[in-house]
Amino acid sequence: MPLVNSKEMFEKAYKGGYAIGAFNVNNMEVVQAITEAANELNSPVILQVSAGARKYAKPVYLKKLVEAAVEDTDIPVVLHLDHGADFEICKDCIDNGFTSVMIDASSKPFEENIAITKKVVEYAHAHKPYVTVEAELGTLAGVEDDVKVEFGKSSYTNPDQVEEFVKRTGVDSLAIAIGTSHGAYKFRPEQCTRNKDGVLVPPPLRFDILEEVSKRLPGFPIVLHGASSVTQEFVKIINENGGKMPDAVGIPEDQLRKAASMAVCKINIDSDLRLAVTAGVRKHMVDHPDHFDPRQYMTDARNNCRELVKHKIIDVLGSQDKK
Ligand code: G3H
Ligand code: 13P
Ligand code: ZN
Repeated sequence: MPLVNSKEMFEKAYKGGYAIGAFNVNNMEVVQAITEAANELNSPVILQVSAGARKYAKPVYLKKLVEAAVEDTDIPVVLHLDHGADFEICKDCIDNGFTSVMIDASSKPFEENIAITKKVVEYAHAHKPYVTVEAELGTLAGVEDDVKVEFGKSSYTNPDQVEEFVKRTGVDSLAIAIGTSHGAYKFRPEQCTRNKDGVLVPPPLRFDILEEVSKRLPGFPIVLHGASSVTQEFVKIINENGGKMPDAVGIPEDQLRKAASMAVCKINIDSDLRLAVTAGVRKHMVDHPDHFDPRQYMTDARNNCRELVKHKIIDVLGSQDKK
């Protein structure tokens, strides 16, 4: 099956009350783990590439890895640019075979965000075949690429702006800020309570904003960034094997499942994959101090990622058997 854009995927997801997982990829093992898991479960999937990933692996390597995964599987796969900072990077990706791009001008004033997004949409939609475009309104806290948004400097999406934004830009999907955050440290301890095991419990997502946005944009696909759950099982393994990640905390999975049953059609996951890789490598190194073949510890990393993605598809996204 060739790479596809996200149009039909999101239409089906919206109607079916589930979401598509958008997983960040930087290397071969992670591409394989995600696509093997999705293939086994007959789930559509989005592989997304950030500017940092392009810098790390070089665009051509990522493109070829994704092409290999498409050849090796039989599921709909979208190749998506994550957090495109300007028109040029979006254009470069569109010209080089991406089937979807995000233009992220969310840190710019409203009118500027509209103007940049509209320019990308016009270019992407004129492309044959049609490339889908995601944009963002509102600002998430946390770290993405080289940008760090301080806690307190983030802002929720204003539902009063969404209709005008979508109408004037012609964008295909919209990322909104309802309390998710990038990275493995999504909330400060003082924003949270603690459960009986001492693990931080974050403040709930603002479902009222999501509901209001979907009332204003009926049938329109919404995207959640910063949606890793910061799997505590992996945080524990990391901390038990020489790591130091105190108070790493993410978005509870039941809240993501609820969002997926509503207007949210795309859920972005990067940090959970990073934790899965790191837990696999750290534990392997401690258990086998004599090993020095990367294939040995990267096998554990890849297995962790595959199991994680299967769990997300079944228990969080609900996209199993929706290919
Ligand atoms: O939202 C950002 C993603 O987690 C990508 O992070 O730029 O470090 O690859 P990165
Ligand atoms: P996490 O850091 O929660 O995995 O979010 C990833 C993301 O939003 C990529 O765009
Ligand atoms: Zn993001």
